[in-house]
Amino acid sequence: MIKMENSKIALPIGITLDRFIKKIENLHTNTKGELSQLLRDIALASKVVNREINKAGLVDILGNVGQQNSGGEEQQKLDVLADIRFTRALSKGGEACGVISEEVEGFVDFNNQGKYLVAIDPLDGSSNIDVNVSVGTIFSILKRITPIGTPLTEADFFQNGTHQVAAGYILYGTSTMFVFTTGDGVFAFTYESTLGEYVLSHSNMQMKEEGAIYSINEGLSKSFKDQGILQYLDYCKAQSYSARYIGSMVADFHRNLMKGGVYLYPATVDYPNGKLRLLYECNALAFIAEQAGGKATNGKERILEIEPKSFHQRTTLYIGSKKMVEQIEDCIK
Ligand code: AHG
Ligand code: MN
Ligand code: MN
Repeated sequence: MIKMENSKIALPIGITLDRFIKKIENLHTNTKGELSQLLRDIALASKVVNREINKAGLVDILGNVGQQNSGGEEQQKLDVLADIRFTRALSKGGEACGVISEEVEGFVDFNNQGKYLVAIDPLDGSSNIDVNVSVGTIFSILKRITPIGTPLTEADFFQNGTHQVAAGYILYGTSTMFVFTTGDGVFAFTYESTLGEYVLSHSNMQMKEEGAIYSINEGLSKSFKDQGILQYLDYCKAQSYSARYIGSMVADFHRNLMKGGVYLYPATVDYPNGKLRLLYECNALAFIAEQAGGKATNGKERILEIEPKSFHQRTTLYIGSKKMVEQIEDCIK
């Protein structure tokens, strides 16, 4: 039985992603036909990437490719492969008219009739690929603002995060999960590999207001630009919170979403504006965090309200349980 409870969707655990999308299509204006198909295209590409990741140690797809991505970081073979898989699925699907990816300098215009734009981090946590630790994919979906049929412009992509019509991530972890929101709650689907289907496993996910986990690369603390962060870390230790940091933001975020906690990436000497990318990392997770009752800021501003000025813009990020994020804001005021 489908019902709307407090504007949230209630559908039975065990329903497949395809059926779920079909059902909510009739309930939610944001998920009309084309967007539904776009989500299916992303899910399908993620199954292919999941397959590649699972056999990574057996075939020659580990290691780097000897070149750098848009941010000057070493590209791993799986970064490039995942980028190709998602971009191909999006361009063939026809619902997206363009994409920006961490792996590509500018935007790609598909020159089609699609209404949607996708910003994607095809493989998040690249440093963990070679060591069989969880990695992910992060995506954010916007509606184009220039007329269909005209060339895409920067302005199409430079919309703040409040304009997202959907966002999500895939976590290639101990199990593979597809987690997304269209603005009506957060839903997680676990991949059932024998069926080749994503199956609803977590409905209307909510984050604890306050947790006892903090996730930060504390080894960088000598280079933190904001001393208030050290004050917050002292507080975490005084409370005997657990320090948990995987180095794949999707995995760290997902654990904190499930258990309550906070993820921090402050400004450092090497990354004076923070390391993480606004358009294809922070906005998507911020949308999900807020939908789950959590919070995401750069310390001063809500992530979703930051006006983008460049494709690969970086920002500081404090994201997770609401009260924990607020306390960080107090420390760095
Ligand atoms: P990516 O692999 O897409 O470049 O992202 C890595 C990000 C994020 O996932 C992770 O939490 C963080 O960078 C790790 O950075 P440090 O190694 O500096 O902690
Ligand atoms: Mn990333
Ligand atoms: Mn990446």
